[in-house]
Amino acid sequence: MNGLVTRLTIATGLGATVLLLGGCELGPKQTQQTGYRGAGLDQIVDVSHIQKAAAIPAAPYALPDDSGPRASETYQNVRVLGNVSTERFNHLMAEMNQWVAPPEQGCNYCHNPENMASDEKYTKVVARRMLQMTRNINTRWSTHVKQTGVTCYTCHRGNAVPEYKWALAEGTLDPMAIRGNKHGQNTPDKNVGYASLPSDPFAEYLQGAGAKNIRVASSSPFPSSDHIVSIKDAEKSYGLMMHVSTALGVNCTYCHNTQSFRAWNLSRAQRGTAYYGIRMVRDINGDYINSLRSVFPANRKGPHGDPYKVNCTTCHQGLSKPLGGVSMLDQAPALREGPPVAPAQQEGGPGASKAVPAAFRRPAAMTDNK
Ligand code: HEC
Ligand code: HEC
Ligand code: HEC
Ligand code: HEC
Repeated sequence: MNGLVTRLTIATGLGATVLLLGGCELGPKQTQQTGYRGAGLDQIVDVSHIQKAAAIPAAPYALPDDSGPRASETYQNVRVLGNVSTERFNHLMAEMNQWVAPPEQGCNYCHNPENMASDEKYTKVVARRMLQMTRNINTRWSTHVKQTGVTCYTCHRGNAVPEYKWALAEGTLDPMAIRGNKHGQNTPDKNVGYASLPSDPFAEYLQGAGAKNIRVASSSPFPSSDHIVSIKDAEKSYGLMMHVSTALGVNCTYCHNTQSFRAWNLSRAQRGTAYYGIRMVRDINGDYINSLRSVFPANRKGPHGDPYKVNCTTCHQGLSKPLGGVSMLDQAPALREGPPVAPAQQEGGPGASKAVPAAFRRPAAMTDNK
């Protein structure tokens, strides 16, 4: 009897161990030290995940040169890519086919084959806006995407609708409601690392110009008009930070020094890149995707009728640089054209100082570096 119990105990123990280890990620890991030793500034990444998330398809055929007639001279209804050579225009169509359209539909996903110039399919109307959006990212937001830039593939990865996206969540009540409104709390959600943080960190921070400030710490020890961070704001900010970390596959110290999460001069340069990334995502969602609300059919919208939008995971998919930092733009140079306009620096950002209106400036002794 005793022997049986012992054997049972061992078996259960083994089973539990296997279950426990099952929760660990197997396979080779890479460690990178990003700051002084002993300060916990290390990043540990799963090599096989990197290889998977950084796979890039081969170009459909070699990129033709930019000579010959322009697309606007050859075709009837070209409104964005008019200046591109016809040969390169056709090449980009073949790439969009590969990057976005379902293989069984191909060109016909966006086109009526009887009349290629027609805009009757909503997918073509969306694709035209996406062309403008992609050019805008690559020219106006080089503060974030640098020279690497993005193509349709960075988000779409061969799917008509990108895998990682968000819309206002089901069950989100009117924010003013008091009864039964948990403000997204106690609803464990992957977006915020299953923590008991507000489960929708996106709606308030990642769309449009009117987005809220991401702040936890007060800028002064005394109550003041500047001290406007409520506990709820702090929780939401942390929720967004959980998303940012998960999206990039890094921990908090990839950007912050825990001596002060606020201080820009203690933070790594990557936090500055992230700062511009947040503004870029607001621009993408506010100016480009939300404006397509009336174009998307109901099955392409969330439960509240808003189109699916972009967050950090849409491009990053668990890597600190999407697709491992490889640029696909040399095979799609037409996506880099457009007017370069630097986005305005905002208050409280990296290196923000004199340009900030006096009313918004913090007292010199209490700057962001404290
Ligand atoms: C994801 C949507 C999408 C797919 C897939 C797509 N196209 Fe297009 N196509 C567009 C858009 C958008 C335009 C208009 C571009 C502009 O306004 O600058 C366009 C324009 C064209 C035109 C110009 C028609 C005219 O006279 O105005 C041709 C030709 C064309 N596409 C061919 C193709 C071919 C061939 C394929 C398949 C290899 C293809 N397209 C796949 C979205 C798509
Ligand atoms: C920053 C990320 C991002 C980039 C870059 C991007 N898209 Fe999209 N695209 C989206 C999201 C998010 C949706 C989903 C919107 C929805 O379904 O409500 C979408 C939807 C679409 C759709 C509609 C598909 C459908 O079946 O309803 C088309 C077509 C499309 N994109 C084409 C393109 C093309 C072409 C490019 C490159 C010129 C491109 N996209 C680049 C994020 C992106
Ligand atoms: C990829 C870079 C990045 C990572 C990773 C990251 N953060 Fe942040 N964090 C930022 C940026 C950028 C801001 C400022 C946002 C703004 O001003 O719009 C910020 C702001 C904050 C603030 C607010 C500081 C203030 O001024 O009140 C706190 C607190 C914070 N992060 C905590 C965390 C925690 C905790 C983690 C890990 C779960 C984390 N962050 C992960 C980039 C990052
Ligand atoms: C439209 C696609 C796209 C989206 C959306 C996006 N990023 Fe990026 N991000 C990039 C690209 C491309 C790079 C690589 C730039 C380079 O080569 O240095 C990058 C680089 C970064 C880096 C620098 C990494 C390093 O090791 O130097 C950080 C940090 C970062 N992104 C944070 C964010 C955060 C936070 C968000 C969400 C608010 C976000 N990104 C959303 C495309 C995107």
